[in-house]
Amino acid sequence: MQLTMPQATLQTSYRQRRQALMEKIGGGTAIFRSAPTAVMHNDVEYNFRQDSDFFYLTGFDETNAVAVLAPHHAEHQFILFVQPKDPLQETWHGYRVGVEAAKERYGADIAYPIAELDEHLPKYLEQADRIYYRLGRDRAFNQTLLTHWQNLLASYSKRGTGPVALEDVGFQLHHLRMVKDDSELALLRKAIAISVEAHNVAREMAQPGRYEHEIQAEMEYIFRKNGAQGPAYPSIVASGENACILHYTTNNRQMQEGDLLLIDAGAAYHYYNADITRTFPVNGQYSQEQRMLYELVLSAQEAAIAQVQPSQPYNAFHDAAVRVLTEGLVALGLLVGEVDKLIEEEKYKPFYMHRTGHWLGLDVHDAGFYKIAKETWQPLQAGNVVTVEPGLYISPDIKLAEDQPEVPARWRGIGIRIEDDVLVTPTGHEVLTSNVPKALN
Ligand code: GLY
Ligand code: MN
Ligand code: MN
Repeated sequence: MQLTMPQATLQTSYRQRRQALMEKIGGGTAIFRSAPTAVMHNDVEYNFRQDSDFFYLTGFDETNAVAVLAPHHAEHQFILFVQPKDPLQETWHGYRVGVEAAKERYGADIAYPIAELDEHLPKYLEQADRIYYRLGRDRAFNQTLLTHWQNLLASYSKRGTGPVALEDVGFQLHHLRMVKDDSELALLRKAIAISVEAHNVAREMAQPGRYEHEIQAEMEYIFRKNGAQGPAYPSIVASGENACILHYTTNNRQMQEGDLLLIDAGAAYHYYNADITRTFPVNGQYSQEQRMLYELVLSAQEAAIAQVQPSQPYNAFHDAAVRVLTEGLVALGLLVGEVDKLIEEEKYKPFYMHRTGHWLGLDVHDAGFYKIAKETWQPLQAGNVVTVEPGLYISPDIKLAEDQPEVPARWRGIGIRIEDDVLVTPTGHEVLTSNVPKALN
């Protein structure tokens, strides 16, 4: 796959990120475990996807590896443990970088075969004041690490040094991952450009009589054709009342005259994820109810995007969307009461049950902190990327609170979401996904 930027640029970014983390952890040692492989069925595996923290710091894309950052160590600050070259294994399972090339290509000060982990790891821990590690999915490795720590604690009194605490490395690293650097933004923009093309083709294709899976197939074809790894998450192509199921992925229905089609799909490009939703009528014509609800979701989304600015608390854009949606539901007679009270009592939730966005990047729901204290939301800062994705979902069997009216049949079965990916800039924001039209026509 032809990357949008030279490998050397990426290697510089990985090095800068390791440097930034090492400045934060000072006298500690940070340890990262690669992702395990996952079984699809019997002895068939899913495509491997590296752990995002591991990838963020190394770009190294193989399983059964360990990365160590030991800023205090006299000789080696960046250490890789990797699978050695093995022609037989590689014939079956694919190319391995191997020990020698891991050092040269990935900028490690030293690389060892993974089988030598127990032998070499202690020397990078015994002078550290703490261990930074995220207890992860690989329980056997969690245990390996805890055993090393236990051994070092047992011998601390004779040595006078060693880690006295274990800290989740996410508390240091995920503050860095929340602020995207230039290489990350370039990769994210590429993932988005591919996804924009797919959404625009999907809109052209959709018509009554077509199947949801035909649209899905065309979009995912465009992803792969353009060098994306594939969908960033299972594509949602939801027509008619399927749009009221938030994580609908069956995608097998034949679209009918009068349906809206909700498409929530994005590509993953070199690990960076687009996340875009559009909703439109399959025959190009909104019913009156569909149009009124679409206008409402769109104005909620515009009000929310306006709140995406440096220093705004993270929750401001969610609050803005909830307010506009609740006001609109009252204006349409779908909710009855005073807006502030309806919001406080969350009476809008049968129509809008999810939050208005999330951090976006290496993970679709990306690493980062939404709150920094019990009552304090994280302030947005330049380099953050969020999704802004309000919606309204009037399922056929919607039930409101007891003090609310019955929802008339003509509104039922309509589901709408509009989702854009938004970069916080030093002066405001940039909607990265603006090339997929969303205006009412
Ligand atoms: N497509 C996943 C999400 O919107 O969060
Ligand atoms: Mn999303
Ligand atoms: Mn989405």
